[in-house]
Amino acid sequence: MAFWSSLPSVFLLVIVLCSISGNNVAGYGDAKQLLLLKRRQIPAWRDDAQPQISRTQNSATILEMKHIDHCSGSMSELDQRLGKCLVADDIRVKSIQSHIKSVLSSQTESSKTRIPITSGVKLQTLNYVVTVTLGGRNVTMIVDTGSELTWVQCLPCKLCYTQPEPLFNPMISPSYQSVLCNSQACKTLQLATGSSGICGYNAATCNYVVTYGDGSYTHGELGRDRLLLGSTVVDSYVFGCGRNNKGLFGAASGLIGLGRSDLSLVSQTSDLFGGVFSYCLPDTDAATSGSLMLGDDSSVYKNFTPVSYTRLVMNPMLDSFYILNLTGASVGEVSLEPPGFGKSGIFIDSGTVITRLPPSIYKAIKSEFLKQFSGYPLAPSFSILDTCFNLSAYEELNVPTIKMKFEGDSEMTVDVSGMFYFVKRDASQVCLALAGLAFEDEIGIIGNYQQRNTRVIYDTKQMKLGFAREICSYS
Ligand SMILES: *[C@@H]1O[C@H](CO)[C@@H](O)[C@H](O)[C@H]1NC(C)=O
Ligand SMILES: *[C@@H]1O[C@H](CO)[C@@H](O)[C@H](O)[C@H]1NC(C)=O
Ligand SMILES: *[C@@H]1O[C@H](CO)[C@@H](O)[C@H](O)[C@H]1NC(C)=O
Repeated sequence: MAFWSSLPSVFLLVIVLCSISGNNVAGYGDAKQLLLLKRRQIPAWRDDAQPQISRTQNSATILEMKHIDHCSGSMSELDQRLGKCLVADDIRVKSIQSHIKSVLSSQTESSKTRIPITSGVKLQTLNYVVTVTLGGRNVTMIVDTGSELTWVQCLPCKLCYTQPEPLFNPMISPSYQSVLCNSQACKTLQLATGSSGICGYNAATCNYVVTYGDGSYTHGELGRDRLLLGSTVVDSYVFGCGRNNKGLFGAASGLIGLGRSDLSLVSQTSDLFGGVFSYCLPDTDAATSGSLMLGDDSSVYKNFTPVSYTRLVMNPMLDSFYILNLTGASVGEVSLEPPGFGKSGIFIDSGTVITRLPPSIYKAIKSEFLKQFSGYPLAPSFSILDTCFNLSAYEELNVPTIKMKFEGDSEMTVDVSGMFYFVKRDASQVCLALAGLAFEDEIGIIGNYQQRNTRVIYDTKQMKLGFAREICSYS
Protein backbone atom coordinates (compact mmCIF):
# COMPACT_ATOMS: atom_id res chain seq x y z
CA MET A 1 0.00 0.00 0.00
CA ALA A 2 1.33 3.34 -0.94
CA PHE A 3 2.53 5.49 1.86
CA TRP A 4 2.04 8.76 0.23
CA SER A 5 0.00 8.62 -2.87
CA SER A 6 2.32 7.18 -5.39
CA LEU A 7 1.62 9.13 -8.48
CA PRO A 8 4.48 8.55 -10.81
CA SER A 9 4.40 11.12 -13.54
CA VAL A 10 0.93 12.32 -12.89
CA PHE A 11 0.41 15.97 -13.51
CA LEU A 12 -1.21 17.80 -10.68
CA LEU A 13 -2.47 21.25 -10.39
CA VAL A 14 -0.37 22.99 -7.85
CA ILE A 15 -0.33 26.36 -6.32
CA VAL A 16 2.82 28.31 -6.60
CA LEU A 17 3.36 31.11 -4.19
CA CYS A 18 4.90 34.30 -5.21
CA SER A 19 3.98 37.15 -3.00
CA ILE A 20 5.37 35.69 0.17
CA SER A 21 9.01 36.48 -0.01
CA GLY A 22 9.90 39.40 2.18
CA ASN A 23 10.43 41.78 -0.68
CA ASN A 24 7.03 41.26 -2.15
CA VAL A 25 7.91 39.89 -5.51
CA ALA A 26 4.53 40.58 -6.94
CA GLY A 27 4.31 44.03 -5.46
CA TYR A 28 0.75 43.77 -4.21
CA GLY A 29 1.47 44.86 -0.69
CA ASP A 30 -0.09 42.91 2.06
CA ALA A 31 -3.72 43.09 1.12
CA LYS A 32 -3.51 40.73 -1.82
CA GLN A 33 -1.52 37.64 -2.68
CA LEU A 34 -0.80 36.21 -6.07
CA LEU A 35 -2.09 32.75 -6.85
CA LEU A 36 -0.45 31.03 -9.80
CA LEU A 37 -2.19 28.08 -11.34
CA LYS A 38 0.07 25.86 -13.32
CA ARG A 39 0.86 22.29 -13.94
CA ARG A 40 3.84 20.66 -12.39
CA GLN A 41 5.09 17.13 -12.09
CA ILE A 42 4.97 15.55 -8.67
CA PRO A 43 7.66 13.01 -7.81
CA ALA A 44 6.54 9.58 -6.68
CA TRP A 45 7.05 8.68 -3.06
CA ARG A 46 8.80 5.60 -1.88
CA ASP A 47 6.67 2.89 -0.35
CA ASP A 48 9.23 1.53 2.07
CA ALA A 49 10.16 2.58 5.57
CA GLN A 50 11.13 6.19 5.97
CA PRO A 51 14.43 7.41 7.32
CA GLN A 52 14.34 9.78 10.23
CA ILE A 53 15.30 13.16 8.86
CA SER A 54 16.23 15.45 11.67
CA ARG A 55 18.88 17.70 13.08
CA THR A 56 19.78 19.52 16.23
CA GLN A 57 20.42 23.20 15.89
CA ASN A 58 21.34 25.30 18.90
CA SER A 59 19.02 23.99 21.58
CA ALA A 60 16.23 22.92 19.25
CA THR A 61 15.55 19.53 17.72
CA ILE A 62 14.09 19.75 14.25
CA LEU A 63 12.22 16.95 12.51
CA GLU A 64 11.22 16.95 8.90
CA MET A 65 7.45 17.10 8.60
CA LYS A 66 5.60 15.82 5.57
CA HIS A 67 2.15 15.85 4.30
CA ILE A 68 0.27 12.65 3.60
CA ASP A 69 -2.20 13.05 0.86
CA HIS A 70 -4.53 10.11 0.84
CA CYS A 71 -7.03 12.11 -1.07
CA SER A 72 -5.03 11.79 -4.19
CA GLY A 73 -4.92 8.67 -6.24
CA SER A 74 -6.06 7.82 -9.67
CA MET A 75 -7.61 10.71 -11.51
CA SER A 76 -10.98 9.04 -11.82
CA GLU A 77 -11.40 8.51 -8.11
CA LEU A 78 -10.09 11.84 -7.03
CA ASP A 79 -13.30 13.80 -6.83
CA GLN A 80 -14.99 11.09 -4.86
CA ARG A 81 -12.13 10.82 -2.42
CA LEU A 82 -11.91 14.54 -1.88
CA GLY A 83 -15.56 14.49 -0.91
CA LYS A 84 -14.98 11.69 1.56
CA CYS A 85 -12.08 13.56 3.07
CA LEU A 86 -14.24 16.54 3.83
CA VAL A 87 -16.95 14.33 5.26
CA ALA A 88 -14.35 12.88 7.62
CA ASP A 89 -13.28 16.39 8.55
CA ASP A 90 -16.86 17.25 9.35
CA ILE A 91 -17.19 14.20 11.56
CA ARG A 92 -14.11 15.26 13.47
CA VAL A 93 -15.49 18.74 14.00
CA LYS A 94 -18.92 17.44 15.05
CA SER A 95 -17.34 15.11 17.56
CA ILE A 96 -15.24 17.94 19.00
CA GLN A 97 -18.38 20.06 19.34
CA SER A 98 -20.38 17.32 20.99
CA HIS A 99 -17.61 16.65 23.47
CA ILE A 100 -17.36 20.28 24.38
CA LYS A 101 -21.08 20.34 24.95
CA SER A 102 -21.02 17.28 27.13
CA VAL A 103 -18.05 18.56 29.12
CA LEU A 104 -19.50 22.00 29.61
CA SER A 105 -22.92 20.69 30.55
CA SER A 106 -21.59 18.34 33.19
CA GLN A 107 -20.05 21.11 35.28
CA THR A 108 -21.32 19.38 38.37
CA GLU A 109 -18.70 16.69 37.96
CA SER A 110 -15.31 17.24 39.42
CA SER A 111 -13.61 20.12 37.68
CA LYS A 112 -10.69 17.78 37.21
CA THR A 113 -12.61 15.71 34.69
CA ARG A 114 -10.74 15.89 31.47
CA ILE A 115 -12.20 15.67 28.07
CA PRO A 116 -11.59 12.21 26.64
CA ILE A 117 -9.00 12.21 23.91
CA THR A 118 -11.64 11.82 21.31
CA SER A 119 -10.74 15.06 19.65
CA GLY A 120 -8.10 13.44 17.51
CA VAL A 121 -10.32 11.99 14.85
CA LYS A 122 -7.99 11.24 12.05
CA LEU A 123 -8.56 11.99 8.48
CA GLN A 124 -7.43 9.78 5.75
CA THR A 125 -5.79 12.75 4.26
CA LEU A 126 -4.38 16.17 4.68
CA ASN A 127 -2.50 15.26 7.77
CA TYR A 128 1.11 15.71 8.66
CA VAL A 129 3.65 13.11 9.65
CA VAL A 130 7.14 12.97 11.12
CA THR A 131 9.50 10.01 11.42
CA VAL A 132 11.03 9.32 14.82
CA THR A 133 12.92 6.35 16.23
CA LEU A 134 11.22 4.30 18.94
CA GLY A 135 12.98 1.32 20.48
CA GLY A 136 15.49 1.41 17.64
CA ARG A 137 12.81 1.39 14.94
CA ASN A 138 11.95 4.24 12.61
CA VAL A 139 8.26 4.95 12.86
CA THR A 140 6.32 7.49 10.82
CA MET A 141 3.61 9.09 12.88
CA ILE A 142 0.75 11.52 12.40
CA VAL A 143 1.29 14.70 14.42
CA ASP A 144 -1.83 15.81 16.28
CA THR A 145 -2.14 18.75 18.66
CA GLY A 146 -5.66 17.56 19.49
CA SER A 147 -4.50 14.22 20.95
CA GLU A 148 -2.71 13.25 24.13
CA LEU A 149 -1.40 9.71 23.94
CA THR A 150 1.30 8.67 21.48
CA TRP A 151 0.75 5.17 20.11
CA VAL A 152 2.10 2.81 17.47
CA GLN A 153 0.73 -0.38 15.94
CA CYS A 154 2.33 -3.18 17.88
CA LEU A 155 3.04 -6.92 17.63
CA PRO A 156 1.45 -9.31 18.34
CA CYS A 157 -1.41 -7.60 16.64
CA LYS A 158 -5.04 -8.63 16.81
CA LEU A 159 -6.17 -6.11 14.25
CA CYS A 160 -3.84 -3.74 12.48
CA TYR A 161 -4.41 -1.69 9.35
CA THR A 162 -1.84 -1.94 6.58
CA GLN A 163 1.29 0.11 7.06
CA PRO A 164 4.42 0.05 4.93
CA GLU A 165 6.81 0.15 7.87
CA PRO A 166 7.31 -3.06 9.86
CA LEU A 167 5.10 -3.31 12.94
CA PHE A 168 6.71 -2.32 16.23
CA ASN A 169 7.79 -5.42 18.09
CA PRO A 170 8.32 -4.88 21.81
CA MET A 171 9.83 -8.38 22.15
CA ILE A 172 12.89 -7.44 20.16
CA SER A 173 13.43 -4.03 21.70
CA PRO A 174 15.87 -4.40 24.60
CA SER A 175 14.69 -1.12 26.09
CA TYR A 176 10.93 -1.84 26.08
CA GLN A 177 9.16 -2.13 29.43
CA SER A 178 5.50 -2.65 30.24
CA VAL A 179 3.83 0.02 32.30
CA LEU A 180 2.43 -1.57 35.46
CA CYS A 181 -1.20 -1.30 36.29
CA ASN A 182 -0.69 0.39 39.64
CA SER A 183 1.87 2.90 38.36
CA GLN A 184 1.53 6.65 38.19
CA ALA A 185 1.65 6.58 34.38
CA CYS A 186 -1.33 4.25 34.34
CA LYS A 187 -3.28 6.54 36.64
CA THR A 188 -2.36 9.52 34.49
CA LEU A 189 -3.76 7.65 31.53
CA GLN A 190 -7.07 7.24 33.29
CA LEU A 191 -7.21 10.97 33.84
CA ALA A 192 -6.12 11.85 30.34
CA THR A 193 -8.43 9.51 28.50
CA GLY A 194 -11.38 9.51 30.82
CA SER A 195 -11.33 5.73 30.51
CA SER A 196 -10.01 3.68 33.34
CA GLY A 197 -6.64 2.08 32.72
CA ILE A 198 -8.19 -1.34 32.89
CA CYS A 199 -5.73 -3.77 34.38
CA GLY A 200 -4.94 -6.90 32.40
CA TYR A 201 -5.44 -10.45 33.69
CA ASN A 202 -2.15 -10.46 35.47
CA ALA A 203 -2.53 -6.87 36.66
CA ALA A 204 0.94 -6.28 35.35
CA THR A 205 -0.12 -4.40 32.28
CA CYS A 206 -1.96 -1.12 31.91
CA ASN A 207 -4.49 -1.44 29.13
CA TYR A 208 -5.68 1.58 27.24
CA VAL A 209 -8.55 2.34 24.93
CA VAL A 210 -8.70 5.46 22.83
CA THR A 211 -11.81 5.94 20.76
CA TYR A 212 -11.91 8.71 18.20
CA GLY A 213 -15.14 10.40 17.29
CA ASP A 214 -15.45 8.90 13.82
CA GLY A 215 -15.38 5.34 15.11
CA SER A 216 -11.61 4.98 14.74
CA TYR A 217 -9.92 3.44 17.75
CA THR A 218 -6.75 2.01 19.18
CA HIS A 219 -6.61 -0.52 22.03
CA GLY A 220 -3.51 -1.96 23.62
CA GLU A 221 -1.23 -1.62 26.57
CA LEU A 222 1.00 1.15 27.80
CA GLY A 223 4.70 0.67 27.46
CA ARG A 224 7.88 2.65 27.80
CA ASP A 225 10.76 2.71 25.40
CA ARG A 226 13.58 4.89 24.23
CA LEU A 227 12.42 7.60 21.87
CA LEU A 228 14.95 9.28 19.65
CA LEU A 229 14.00 12.70 18.35
CA GLY A 230 16.86 13.72 16.15
CA SER A 231 19.85 13.18 18.40
CA THR A 232 17.82 13.85 21.54
CA VAL A 233 17.19 10.72 23.58
CA VAL A 234 14.03 10.46 25.65
CA ASP A 235 14.37 7.39 27.86
CA SER A 236 11.29 5.60 29.15
CA TYR A 237 8.88 7.44 26.94
CA VAL A 238 5.33 6.31 27.72
CA PHE A 239 3.25 5.34 24.70
CA GLY A 240 0.50 3.00 23.65
CA CYS A 241 1.46 -0.32 22.14
CA GLY A 242 -1.63 -0.70 19.95
CA ARG A 243 -2.82 -4.27 19.39
CA ASN A 244 -6.19 -3.49 17.94
CA ASN A 245 -6.29 -0.44 15.71
CA LYS A 246 -8.80 0.62 13.16
CA GLY A 247 -9.63 3.81 11.40
CA LEU A 248 -8.57 6.62 9.21
CA PHE A 249 -4.94 6.82 10.13
CA GLY A 250 -3.71 6.66 6.58
CA ALA A 251 -0.77 4.33 6.47
CA ALA A 252 1.10 5.96 9.33
CA SER A 253 2.57 3.64 11.97
CA GLY A 254 0.82 5.58 14.70
CA LEU A 255 0.22 9.00 16.12
CA ILE A 256 2.09 11.51 18.24
CA GLY A 257 -0.06 13.43 20.71
CA LEU A 258 0.99 17.05 21.16
CA GLY A 259 -1.87 18.05 23.44
CA ARG A 260 -1.38 19.55 26.88
CA SER A 261 -2.03 16.65 29.25
CA ASP A 262 0.66 14.82 31.23
CA LEU A 263 1.01 11.98 28.76
CA SER A 264 1.60 14.07 25.67
CA LEU A 265 4.98 14.43 24.04
CA VAL A 266 5.11 18.05 25.18
CA SER A 267 4.72 17.11 28.84
CA GLN A 268 6.98 14.08 28.74
CA THR A 269 9.81 16.11 27.23
CA SER A 270 9.26 19.34 29.11
CA ASP A 271 12.58 19.13 30.96
CA LEU A 272 14.33 18.79 27.61
CA PHE A 273 12.39 21.27 25.53
CA GLY A 274 10.79 23.55 28.08
CA GLY A 275 7.23 22.80 26.98
CA VAL A 276 7.70 24.65 23.69
CA PHE A 277 7.21 23.30 20.19
CA SER A 278 6.43 24.79 16.82
CA TYR A 279 5.67 23.68 13.32
CA CYS A 280 5.48 24.94 9.80
CA LEU A 281 2.95 23.02 7.70
CA PRO A 282 3.83 22.82 4.02
CA ASP A 283 1.22 22.88 1.31
CA THR A 284 0.10 19.75 -0.52
CA ASP A 285 2.78 19.86 -3.14
CA ALA A 286 4.49 16.55 -2.45
CA ALA A 287 7.88 18.06 -3.12
CA THR A 288 7.72 20.36 -0.12
CA SER A 289 8.30 19.48 3.47
CA GLY A 290 7.98 21.41 6.67
CA SER A 291 9.36 21.07 10.14
CA LEU A 292 8.32 20.16 13.64
CA MET A 293 10.65 21.91 16.03
CA LEU A 294 10.97 20.94 19.67
CA GLY A 295 12.38 23.55 21.99
CA ASP A 296 12.37 27.28 22.24
CA ASP A 297 15.00 28.78 20.01
CA SER A 298 13.62 31.51 17.82
CA SER A 299 16.94 31.92 16.03
CA VAL A 300 16.20 28.66 14.25
CA TYR A 301 12.91 29.81 12.73
CA LYS A 302 13.02 31.05 9.16
CA ASN A 303 10.19 33.49 9.55
CA PHE A 304 10.12 36.67 7.50
CA THR A 305 7.62 38.51 9.67
CA PRO A 306 8.07 38.98 13.43
CA VAL A 307 6.44 36.42 15.72
CA SER A 308 3.20 37.80 17.04
CA TYR A 309 2.00 36.19 20.26
CA THR A 310 -1.41 35.83 21.78
CA ARG A 311 -2.48 34.37 25.09
CA LEU A 312 -3.50 30.72 25.32
CA VAL A 313 -6.88 30.90 27.00
CA MET A 314 -7.30 28.69 30.03
CA ASN A 315 -10.45 26.69 30.28
CA PRO A 316 -10.11 24.17 33.08
CA MET A 317 -12.87 22.08 31.57
CA LEU A 318 -11.13 21.87 28.21
CA ASP A 319 -7.56 21.68 29.31
CA SER A 320 -6.31 19.43 26.58
CA PHE A 321 -7.15 21.92 23.84
CA TYR A 322 -5.22 24.93 22.69
CA ILE A 323 -7.70 27.79 22.78
CA LEU A 324 -7.21 31.36 21.52
CA ASN A 325 -9.30 34.50 21.74
CA LEU A 326 -10.25 35.50 18.20
CA THR A 327 -10.96 39.22 18.31
CA GLY A 328 -11.28 40.18 14.65
CA ALA A 329 -10.49 39.43 11.04
CA SER A 330 -9.76 41.32 7.88
CA VAL A 331 -10.22 40.69 4.19
CA GLY A 332 -7.94 42.72 1.97
CA GLU A 333 -7.83 46.12 3.58
CA VAL A 334 -11.25 45.83 5.20
CA SER A 335 -11.44 45.08 8.91
CA LEU A 336 -14.43 43.11 10.08
CA GLU A 337 -15.89 43.38 13.50
CA PRO A 338 -19.01 41.26 13.66
CA PRO A 339 -20.42 40.76 17.14
CA GLY A 340 -19.32 37.12 17.30
CA PHE A 341 -15.66 38.03 17.90
CA GLY A 342 -14.16 37.77 21.39
CA LYS A 343 -17.17 35.85 22.72
CA SER A 344 -15.91 32.34 22.92
CA GLY A 345 -12.51 30.92 22.26
CA ILE A 346 -11.37 29.30 19.06
CA PHE A 347 -9.29 26.11 18.98
CA ILE A 348 -6.17 25.80 16.98
CA ASP A 349 -5.72 22.24 15.75
CA SER A 350 -3.23 20.51 13.48
CA GLY A 351 -5.65 17.67 12.77
CA THR A 352 -8.74 19.52 11.55
CA VAL A 353 -8.38 20.46 7.90
CA ILE A 354 -10.83 23.26 7.15
CA THR A 355 -11.27 26.22 9.52
CA ARG A 356 -14.74 26.46 11.06
CA LEU A 357 -16.12 29.76 12.23
CA PRO A 358 -19.26 30.79 14.08
CA PRO A 359 -21.93 31.68 11.49
CA SER A 360 -21.84 35.45 12.08
CA ILE A 361 -18.07 35.57 11.53
CA TYR A 362 -18.13 33.23 8.57
CA LYS A 363 -20.88 35.20 6.86
CA ALA A 364 -19.03 38.48 7.33
CA ILE A 365 -15.79 37.09 5.89
CA LYS A 366 -17.55 35.36 3.03
CA SER A 367 -19.53 38.39 1.92
CA GLU A 368 -16.51 40.70 2.07
CA PHE A 369 -14.44 38.14 0.19
CA LEU A 370 -17.08 37.81 -2.53
CA LYS A 371 -17.20 41.58 -2.81
CA GLN A 372 -13.47 41.86 -3.38
CA PHE A 373 -13.00 38.66 -5.37
CA SER A 374 -15.71 39.52 -7.83
CA GLY A 375 -15.93 38.86 -11.52
CA TYR A 376 -14.84 35.25 -11.31
CA PRO A 377 -17.39 32.68 -12.40
CA LEU A 378 -19.03 30.86 -9.51
CA ALA A 379 -19.08 27.08 -9.27
CA PRO A 380 -21.35 24.76 -7.28
CA SER A 381 -20.72 24.23 -3.56
CA PHE A 382 -18.83 21.17 -2.50
CA SER A 383 -19.55 19.28 0.71
CA ILE A 384 -19.14 21.76 3.58
CA LEU A 385 -17.64 24.42 1.28
CA ASP A 386 -20.18 26.86 -0.12
CA THR A 387 -18.06 29.55 -1.79
CA CYS A 388 -16.68 28.05 -4.99
CA PHE A 389 -15.36 29.37 -8.28
CA ASN A 390 -14.48 28.11 -11.72
CA LEU A 391 -10.94 29.40 -12.21
CA SER A 392 -9.95 27.14 -15.07
CA ALA A 393 -9.60 30.05 -17.46
CA TYR A 394 -6.94 31.78 -15.35
CA GLU A 395 -3.23 31.29 -15.01
CA GLU A 396 -2.80 33.72 -12.18
CA LEU A 397 -4.96 35.96 -10.12
CA ASN A 398 -4.93 38.23 -7.12
CA VAL A 399 -6.60 36.95 -4.02
CA PRO A 400 -7.58 39.24 -1.14
CA THR A 401 -5.59 38.33 1.95
CA ILE A 402 -7.51 37.05 4.97
CA LYS A 403 -6.08 37.79 8.39
CA MET A 404 -7.27 36.54 11.75
CA LYS A 405 -6.70 38.80 14.73
CA PHE A 406 -6.23 37.64 18.28
CA GLU A 407 -6.12 39.14 21.73
CA GLY A 408 -2.93 41.11 22.29
CA ASP A 409 -2.72 42.59 18.78
CA SER A 410 -1.60 39.29 17.38
CA GLU A 411 -2.48 38.29 13.86
CA MET A 412 -2.22 35.34 11.54
CA THR A 413 -2.11 35.91 7.80
CA VAL A 414 -3.67 33.10 5.82
CA ASP A 415 -1.17 32.20 3.15
CA VAL A 416 -2.49 32.01 -0.39
CA SER A 417 -1.79 28.25 -0.41
CA GLY A 418 -4.35 27.85 2.38
CA MET A 419 -7.08 29.97 0.85
CA PHE A 420 -8.63 27.56 -1.61
CA TYR A 421 -9.51 23.91 -1.68
CA PHE A 422 -9.07 22.51 -5.18
CA VAL A 423 -11.99 20.18 -5.73
CA LYS A 424 -11.14 19.73 -9.40
CA ARG A 425 -7.61 19.57 -10.62
CA ASP A 426 -8.38 21.67 -13.65
CA ALA A 427 -9.46 24.47 -11.28
CA SER A 428 -13.03 24.39 -12.56
CA GLN A 429 -14.21 24.00 -8.96
CA VAL A 430 -12.09 25.79 -6.42
CA CYS A 431 -13.63 26.62 -3.05
CA LEU A 432 -12.78 29.09 -0.33
CA ALA A 433 -11.37 26.77 2.34
CA LEU A 434 -13.48 28.08 5.20
CA ALA A 435 -16.79 26.86 6.56
CA GLY A 436 -19.41 28.08 8.97
CA LEU A 437 -20.49 26.16 12.06
CA ALA A 438 -24.13 25.28 12.48
CA PHE A 439 -24.66 27.40 15.60
CA GLU A 440 -23.34 30.64 16.96
CA ASP A 441 -22.45 29.11 20.32
CA GLU A 442 -20.24 26.37 18.90
CA ILE A 443 -16.51 26.84 19.22
CA GLY A 444 -14.54 27.66 16.10
CA ILE A 445 -11.49 25.72 14.98
CA ILE A 446 -8.48 26.96 13.05
CA GLY A 447 -7.68 24.08 10.74
CA ASN A 448 -4.39 23.05 9.20
CA TYR A 449 -5.19 24.39 5.73
CA GLN A 450 -5.16 27.96 6.99
CA GLN A 451 -1.96 27.39 8.97
CA ARG A 452 0.15 26.55 5.94
CA ASN A 453 3.38 28.41 5.47
CA THR A 454 3.10 29.82 8.96
CA ARG A 455 5.41 29.15 11.91
CA VAL A 456 3.03 28.34 14.75
CA ILE A 457 4.71 28.36 18.16
CA TYR A 458 3.09 26.69 21.17
CA ASP A 459 4.52 27.78 24.50
CA THR A 460 2.78 25.71 27.16
CA LYS A 461 4.89 27.17 29.98
CA GLN A 462 4.18 30.81 29.33
CA MET A 463 0.75 29.92 27.98
CA LYS A 464 1.10 31.79 24.73
CA LEU A 465 0.95 30.98 21.06
CA GLY A 466 2.77 32.80 18.28
CA PHE A 467 2.39 33.16 14.52
CA ALA A 468 4.93 34.29 11.95
CA ARG A 469 5.03 33.93 8.20
CA GLU A 470 7.53 31.44 6.87
CA ILE A 471 7.95 29.46 3.70
CA CYS A 472 8.01 25.96 5.09
CA SER A 473 10.99 23.85 4.27
CA TYR A 474 12.95 21.40 6.34
CA SER A 475 16.36 22.30 5.07
C1 LIG B 1 16.30 5.19 10.42
O1 LIG B 1 16.64 6.47 9.96
C2 LIG B 1 18.03 6.73 9.95
C3 LIG B 1 18.25 8.14 9.50
O2 LIG B 1 18.00 9.00 10.52
C4 LIG B 1 18.73 5.77 9.04
O3 LIG B 1 20.13 6.00 9.10
C5 LIG B 1 18.42 4.36 9.48
O4 LIG B 1 18.98 3.46 8.55
C6 LIG B 1 16.92 4.13 9.56
N1 LIG B 1 16.69 2.84 10.13
C7 LIG B 1 15.91 1.94 9.55
C8 LIG B 1 15.76 0.65 10.27
O5 LIG B 1 15.34 2.15 8.49
C1 LIG C 1 -10.99 38.48 24.24
O1 LIG C 1 -10.29 39.70 24.07
C2 LIG C 1 -11.14 40.83 24.15
C3 LIG C 1 -10.30 42.04 23.76
O2 LIG C 1 -9.09 42.06 24.44
C4 LIG C 1 -11.70 40.91 25.57
O3 LIG C 1 -12.56 42.02 25.68
C5 LIG C 1 -12.51 39.63 25.84
O4 LIG C 1 -12.97 39.62 27.17
C6 LIG C 1 -11.60 38.42 25.62
N1 LIG C 1 -12.43 37.21 25.70
C7 LIG C 1 -12.09 36.19 26.47
C8 LIG C 1 -13.00 35.02 26.40
O5 LIG C 1 -11.10 36.19 27.19
C1 LIG D 1 -15.24 26.55 -16.38
O1 LIG D 1 -14.84 27.61 -17.17
C2 LIG D 1 -14.34 27.19 -18.43
C3 LIG D 1 -13.74 28.40 -19.15
O2 LIG D 1 -14.29 29.58 -18.70
C4 LIG D 1 -15.46 26.56 -19.22
O3 LIG D 1 -14.99 26.16 -20.49
C5 LIG D 1 -15.90 25.33 -18.44
O4 LIG D 1 -17.01 24.72 -19.10
C6 LIG D 1 -16.29 25.70 -17.03
N1 LIG D 1 -16.47 24.47 -16.30
C7 LIG D 1 -17.53 24.22 -15.56
C8 LIG D 1 -17.58 22.91 -14.88
O5 LIG D 1 -18.43 25.03 -15.43
